[in-house]
Amino acid sequence: MQEKIIILDFGSQTTQLIARRLRELNTFCEILPYNKYPEDDHDVIGVILSGSPFSVYDPKAFQVDLSRFIDRLPVLGICYGAQYISHTRGGRVEPADSREYGRANLQWTDTESPLFRGFEPSSQVWMSHGDTITALPDGFHVVASTDSVRFAAFQSDRAPVFGVQFHPEVAHSLQGTLLLRNFVVDICGGHQDWSPANFIEETVEELRRQIGQDRVILGLSGGVDSSVAAVLLNRAVGHQLTCIFVDHGMLRKNEFHDVLRDYECLGLNVRGVDASGKFFRDLDGVTDPEQKRKIIGRDFVEVFNEEAQRIIRENASHTEATGGGAVRWLAQGTIYPDRIESLNITGKVIKSHHNVGGLPKEMNLSLCEPLRWLFKDEVRRVGRRLGMPEHLITRHPFPGPGLAVRILGAITPERVRVLQEADDIYIRSLRNYKVKDEDGHEQSLYDTVWQAGAILLSEVRSVGVMGDERTYENPVALRAVTSTDAMTADWARLPYDFLAQVSNDIINKVKGVNRVCYDISSKPPATIEWE
Ligand code: XMP
Repeated sequence: MQEKIIILDFGSQTTQLIARRLRELNTFCEILPYNKYPEDDHDVIGVILSGSPFSVYDPKAFQVDLSRFIDRLPVLGICYGAQYISHTRGGRVEPADSREYGRANLQWTDTESPLFRGFEPSSQVWMSHGDTITALPDGFHVVASTDSVRFAAFQSDRAPVFGVQFHPEVAHSLQGTLLLRNFVVDICGGHQDWSPANFIEETVEELRRQIGQDRVILGLSGGVDSSVAAVLLNRAVGHQLTCIFVDHGMLRKNEFHDVLRDYECLGLNVRGVDASGKFFRDLDGVTDPEQKRKIIGRDFVEVFNEEAQRIIRENASHTEATGGGAVRWLAQGTIYPDRIESLNITGKVIKSHHNVGGLPKEMNLSLCEPLRWLFKDEVRRVGRRLGMPEHLITRHPFPGPGLAVRILGAITPERVRVLQEADDIYIRSLRNYKVKDEDGHEQSLYDTVWQAGAILLSEVRSVGVMGDERTYENPVALRAVTSTDAMTADWARLPYDFLAQVSNDIINKVKGVNRVCYDISSKPPATIEWE
């Protein structure tokens, strides 16, 4: 039995962060919409109630019947969660005099409380609420206060029920992880037994049981998620798995061949499909960014489906001859944040994976998503444990439509070639430039940023001079950002001498480019990609 903590989501922006913190504690947890608490909860060891954009008095505020778990299982309410417990048990919640927002220090904590075991005096926490608790319900007592928030944390006298009005899941709550550890391990009795090795062993067994003698198709993108999913499946069912890797012509320089070779070295059965001609034809003259994305998405599904059909047909004749299994599964590298993003808290799908949505029903394939419970950092840990090469694991995210969203205006093979050259110089330079981390270890500049790439400003031309000649060519913008999840991002402070060298190399070596700019916009208000 996989024991788990349930996080009931009341719509806070930091709900995912709670889950990430628990996973860092090697504890399994699941985020569920506030109204989807499971009927059968025999594997649940504790419940966390998240924050919410609503006040408990708002007529639209999300309600939950706490009696389904509150006296049977440990409960921790965070922010709205704490106010909701207080409000529904007879306490008082009122609008705060001023919105309590930002850093605060816990002036007093009851270190006898199991939730605050090991807390230092004046521990810094992060507050973000408009309401505040002004009276606790009967049977509850205060266990932490700040200067302005008397009931910063409380607990029940009788049962393991706790509330904190600050956010332990955000990094500004300096001992927040300790608080969550105290809850999960000491109060709920969690075992902290998640590890890549256990995950691999259990998942391989489950995949073998699930798939049996059937055959599986998987679309590879070159990214870490689909690559790890493929290697895991390959370990489970070997050559029952066939992977499809589509070249739409807008990958990085040499990417198609390099990645294909990596996959082959990993022992994967991969079919590389060069469909660049079709994509360039269909994109001819299209300048609208959304239109470009639509065409690429549609073409991708068409190419993928055609190849999948071919594999199914080939396999059918082979099956007749040998008695092997039929193609019954479509595997994907979907990870947990993809699924959380696709569900809003009412449980409605608001975003679906493009290659699932487009798969014809008559193919009759079932979905297999072996990484569906993992966060990105966990996927990387699993990949390392599977022995995959480091450059595949630490590869930056790259958008599905590829360089098409980094070329302003119409896409032509020539523009792609120019951008590929500039991008290649930039990325290779990032890999070669070494810096020291906080512990004095050497790492490449590439590994210090979340994502980097070059953008061709093909609609802009500026004057330059090269040798004795006047030039009138395109600029290239370089982008590098730091981020933890791509939801927000800041521009990376790359060293000036590095930028100087890259600019020089690009202008000297890439014909058609006479100027290099560095993008210093953060997200929001800008986005990571330009289109
Ligand atoms: P933005 O530009 O929205 O990007 O800040 C956030 C992250 O998503 C990637 N991205 C995409 N990935 N298809 C994808 O598969 C797309 O159309 C797409 N657009 C942006 C982007 O590279 C960044 O990691």
